[in-house]
Formats: sequence, C-alpha cells, structure tokens
Amino acid sequence: MNKPKKTSILKKIVYTILILLIGFFTGYKFFSPNSGDTPLPVKNTLYRATSNANDTIVSKPVKEFTGEIFEVKKGDIIMDAVKKAKPGDLIRVYPGTYSETVYIDKDDITFQGIIKDGNWPTLDGKKELNDAFLYSGNGIQIEGFKIINYKGNGIMGQAGNNFVLRNNWIIDAGVYGIFPQYGKNGLIEYNILTGIEDAAIYVGMCDNIDVLHNEVYGNVAGIEIENSRHCLVENNNAYDNTGGILAFITPGLPIKTAYDIIIRNNFIHENNHENFGAPGSIVSGIPAGTGILVMAADDVIIENNLISGNKNVGIVITDFENGGAKASNDPESDPNPDNIVILDNIMVNNGYEPIGEIKALMLTQLSSRGPDILAIGGGSGSTIRNKNKYITFGLGNFGTPKIDNTKDVASFLLDKPAEPRKVSKKELGEYTYYGICSGCHAYDIRLIGVPVNVIQMIYKDNPEGMVEYMNEPKNLRDDYPEMPPQNYLSEEAKLAVAEYVLALKN
Ligand code: HEC
Repeated sequence: MNKPKKTSILKKIVYTILILLIGFFTGYKFFSPNSGDTPLPVKNTLYRATSNANDTIVSKPVKEFTGEIFEVKKGDIIMDAVKKAKPGDLIRVYPGTYSETVYIDKDDITFQGIIKDGNWPTLDGKKELNDAFLYSGNGIQIEGFKIINYKGNGIMGQAGNNFVLRNNWIIDAGVYGIFPQYGKNGLIEYNILTGIEDAAIYVGMCDNIDVLHNEVYGNVAGIEIENSRHCLVENNNAYDNTGGILAFITPGLPIKTAYDIIIRNNFIHENNHENFGAPGSIVSGIPAGTGILVMAADDVIIENNLISGNKNVGIVITDFENGGAKASNDPESDPNPDNIVILDNIMVNNGYEPIGEIKALMLTQLSSRGPDILAIGGGSGSTIRNKNKYITFGLGNFGTPKIDNTKDVASFLLDKPAEPRKVSKKELGEYTYYGICSGCHAYDIRLIGVPVNVIQMIYKDNPEGMVEYMNEPKNLRDDYPEMPPQNYLSEEAKLAVAEYVLALKN
C-alpha cells in the first residue's frame, strides 16, 4: 500500500527558498524604471552612485527634462520622429510592431518604450534588417523596447558617449545584442538578452561603463568586455551561454588595452550551451562550459560571484597563445593577463566535464575533477584569496591580494558627462570598419562577404566607386548573399571607411 505523502517541513522550507530565488531571478528585472504606466520622462539619469557612511546608494539625476515629446504609435514609423527631434527631445513609442532600423546621428535623444499590459513596443527585423538601433550621437538613452529577428545588432553605438541602455528585451537579434563601441560613460542595465550569436552585451573599445542587473542566457557569450577600461560588471545573471562573462583583449583593434575591470556579485551558472558562434569569430573558440574568461586583460577583480555548474571551468585566465588569439597580428597588445585579483567567490560543481586539454592537465595534477579556476600561459602579479577553497590549476605563482573587497568603487560612471569625441578621418574609417564591415568581411578569409584583399583589387584607387556600391549594393556573385545597403552612414563615414578598407593590411 502506498502511504499518503506528507510534505516535510524541511521540504517546505526548501521550496519556499526556491520560490524566493526564482522570484528573485525572474522578478528583479521588471523593477526597472519604466514598466507600469507612462512615467515622467527622466532625461539622462546618468549618475554616479555614491556610497555614504551607511552604505546606502544615493543617486542624483543631473538634468531635468525640458524637451519636446514625440509620440509614436502602432502604424507610425519611429524614424519619422527621429528626423523631427532635436537634442533634448523624447521619443515615446507605444506598443506595436515596428519593422525598421532606427539611425540616430543627433545628440541627447531619449527613446522610451511604453510597455502596457505586457505588450512591448517591438522592433522586428524579420530576419531581413541588420540593426534595430544604430546611434552615433552622444547622450542617447534607449529603454523599454523588445527587439527581435535582426541579423546584425540589437542596439549598436558608435563613438557615442554618455548613453543609457536599459530595460530592453532582445531576442535572436543577430551577432551582438547591445554593442556600444568606442563610447565613454555609459550605463547598461536591466536588459534581458537571449539567442545572440556572438556576445549578448558587448562593450567594445569603451571606457567607464557600468553593466548592471542584466539577464543573459542562451547566447554564445553572455557579457563581453573587450579592449575596454574602467568597467563594472555587477549583479548580472549569466547562464546557459557558452561562456558567461568575458574580459579580454582582441589583438589587431585600434585600442590595444583592457584593464581596471570589476566582475562582482554576479550569478554565473551552467554556461554549457553549445557554441553556435560564426566560424572565424573569436568567441567561436570558447569551449562550452566556461564561467568567466579573462584573456590578456589586466587589473581584473573577480569578487563575490556565484559561479556554479560550468562544466569546463569556473574561471579561466589565459594569454593570447593559449586563448587562441593570433598575437602575431598585433605586437602592440600585451599578450599576458597581469594583476588579476580573485577575491572571495562561491564556486561549486565547475569543471565536471572539461575539454581535452584540461583533462590532460588533470592527469598531471592527479585530480579527478576539472578546475574551478585555471590559469594558463604568461602573466604576473596575480593574486587570490583563500585559494584552498577551490580546485585550481596553474595558480602556483598567485600571491595574496592586497585588498579584501572593492567597496570603495560604487560605479565607474563619471561625475560629469564625457566630452563628445573628436574623431579623425582615419579613426572614423577604422571604427566604421570594425564596427560594421568586419562582421562580414575579413582581410583574407571568406566570412559572409568577400575578403578585403579581393575588394582591394576591384576598387584600387577608387574609393568613390566603393561608396557607390555601399549605397546600392547589387548581388554580383552567385555564391554570396546580397550585401545590405550601407547608405545610412554619413557621406564622411562612407568615404573614410572605403579609404580605410583600401589601405588595410593583414
Ligand atoms: C551583413 C554583411 C555585410 C556587411 C555588414 C558588409 N558587407 Fe560588404 N559584402 C557583403 C556580401 C555578402 C558581399 C558580396 C555580395 C555579392 O558579391 O553579391 C559584399 C561585398 C562587398 C564589396 C564588393 C563589391 C564588388 O564590387 O564586388 C565591397 C566593396 C563591400 N562589400 C564593402 C563593404 C563595406 C565598406 C562595409 C562596411 C561599411 C561592408 N561591405 C559591410 C556583406 C556585407
């Protein structure tokens, strides 16, 4: 006879805790500023959060809203509002599906999606359009949008400073979900991103960026801090990606360093997703099951994260050579990770099914399990607290950290907005190339588009001809798809990138 089952008190407690935890995971992202009824426009809430003596966070808005409000409703085109808007204005977008690319080359425009009864203003790229938002202005704020089915980027910024990208829900939006490039002083918070082929949140060649309270899952890379400095990655939930949180240098980019990065108070768990990155991309080499990856970056502090269930390794610290980056591409980038600081973290059940190279190391270490933490290759000055709490490989030369915590750093945002960048023609070409073209073109290998050395033969001494093609590409080759038009770029940027492409060397 079966006895009636009684739920024991212990079970009840466990269930309650589980429900609270699930509530925390699923609920916190919706407490962001603009869910609910139409809120007052809050212009540029970029603030520097400062801890006071009681350790409470004080935020101070720096500017009050004084601009005009444009309302975009179902059936309208967001871009029409952008054309009319002046710096300081607010574009409020109501629920509905908008199938367009929003280009913003003005400063100080806020985009506020209004979410009503669970209905989001949705940008749908229908797997035809490349980007949802593409901005080059300063002081851009984008919040409250659902972005689906794009091929390139959800939200991409080029050289725009002082941005806020918040509370967006980005699903299957191409190569990068949120990708500020070459920006300074920006806040990326409360976004949810999934199904991204490369990095869901990709901070590239930036300074002073806070990445807070985001949820990233089912991407190749969850959060990536690349060739960037002064970045805080805190309170994010990164799970079911191939790699959870990455901080690294990619050699060959115009900015050569990555340092002063804090990865703190994140959940980084079960990042065991099969790698679906484009062949040839740097993330396509990340082994599934990687919690945190640090490659060649310096002064990275890893503190108080919960890192669990990442089957390959919890934290890996590597140089270019062991990380699979072609260091020979760039003698100007230091290939080694230096001064990495691992403070207290909770690490459980990592490294239970590592890749072959780590398995080979296990034999030499006489370990039956893969490591929580692996350091491999060059680098000096790195430290770890309570090393014996974890299974570690290769940390023999790690000393004891000089600091116990990072309490004195509440944020890397600046007290005052950063000055707009002045970009030279060569830089403009360089950033446009790396921001846009290099997603499909590489120097001597076939990506989505033809190799650059082939383009150089066709357009030698004829950058104007290339600009014409970029404006109105035709499908010239049977074995390639058609290139999307690049006519949204300014005339200046088009010519600059054409000249840059023609001068590019491997
Ligand atoms: C989404 C992918 C994609 C992006 C982004 C892209 N291209 Fe292309 N490009 C292609 C493809 C695909 C082809 C080959 C088209 C064909 O042969 O039909 C191509 C071909 C070209 C060609 C060769 C034209 C010819 O006459 O043979 C040039 C030049 C070019 N791209 C320049 C650029 C520049 C400059 C950028 C950046 C501003 C860029 N592309 C961005 C996909 C892309």
